[in-house]
Amino acid sequence: MRFAFLAAENLSIFDPVSPSAESIRSLTYFVLAVTAVIFLLVEGILLYSVYRFRHGPPKGGSEPPQVYGSKPIEIAWTSAPGLVVFVLILVITRTLWEVKVDTSKAPKDSRPLRVTVIGHQWWWEYVYESYDGKKLDFITANELHVPASNDQHRPVFLTLQSADVCHSFWVPRLAGKMDLIPGRTNTLGFETSQTGLFLGQCAEFCGTQHAKMLLRVYVDTPEVFERWLKDQEKPAVDDPKVAKGKKAFFSRSCINCHRVRFPGSTADGTYAPDLTHLMSRQTLASGMIPNTRENLRAWIDDPQKIKPGCLMPAFGLSPTELDLIVDYLWTLE
Ligand code: CUA
Repeated sequence: MRFAFLAAENLSIFDPVSPSAESIRSLTYFVLAVTAVIFLLVEGILLYSVYRFRHGPPKGGSEPPQVYGSKPIEIAWTSAPGLVVFVLILVITRTLWEVKVDTSKAPKDSRPLRVTVIGHQWWWEYVYESYDGKKLDFITANELHVPASNDQHRPVFLTLQSADVCHSFWVPRLAGKMDLIPGRTNTLGFETSQTGLFLGQCAEFCGTQHAKMLLRVYVDTPEVFERWLKDQEKPAVDDPKVAKGKKAFFSRSCINCHRVRFPGSTADGTYAPDLTHLMSRQTLASGMIPNTRENLRAWIDDPQKIKPGCLMPAFGLSPTELDLIVDYLWTLE
């Protein structure tokens, strides 16, 4: 097994690992506390009244005193909720301020990573733009790798765009939600010193497979991350042992949508995930299934069986051709 697929199924906003996610948790606790007090107060008075004024033997046969308008009471029950709402607005505004990261300028002595995230139905495209001021030039999909701020600040600055409909980038333990909107560019920044895999989920309904547009963010130590960068920047492996498979892949319409990057490659599509280093990813179909040989074969055979409605059709490949293409893709480390 290449990795434990369900190892870190923690999407709790109550377990933050970044300052902005911590701010969101504090706000959540505060709002929960305020609303809990109001709830207990209102329900308490209600239950007390139900009990206190329950039906019983008539007491003197008279109605309780009737109150028609009382200035002090009306002022009290208008201003008290007004005050509560005002305090909530202040606290929420402060949190919005804390969570908002200015991605246009990096703090001094920091080594920012800049990635453009493009939402697609139903997968994530990651265009690595720059790291520590140095330009990067590769694209990957569905699994985002970022460095941890162990030794010095290594903020992650994301530029969010969409290729089709509205999506929303949400990795609860790392940051708040931010939408990816067609024709608009949003930004999101976060920073964490905690390494590990952090899961997320597209948080804006974007079509039938919205629930299967999963996010995986790997926070690596700077050394591991920099090694990963170097590997990703390399062109695709060209293993002569799978020359037949390569030929099968390049003679099919796979190359109209997918990219396999090496000098002179004709596979330069951008509609679908970049496959240059497909085997460096642990999952397929945007985090749906582990990236095993059997799953890869089943996926190419008929993606619609695994992810109905996804934009990749079944090409009706013969078993031999299917095996050849899987052989080739399997070498793209
Ligand atoms: Cu993308 Cu929901």
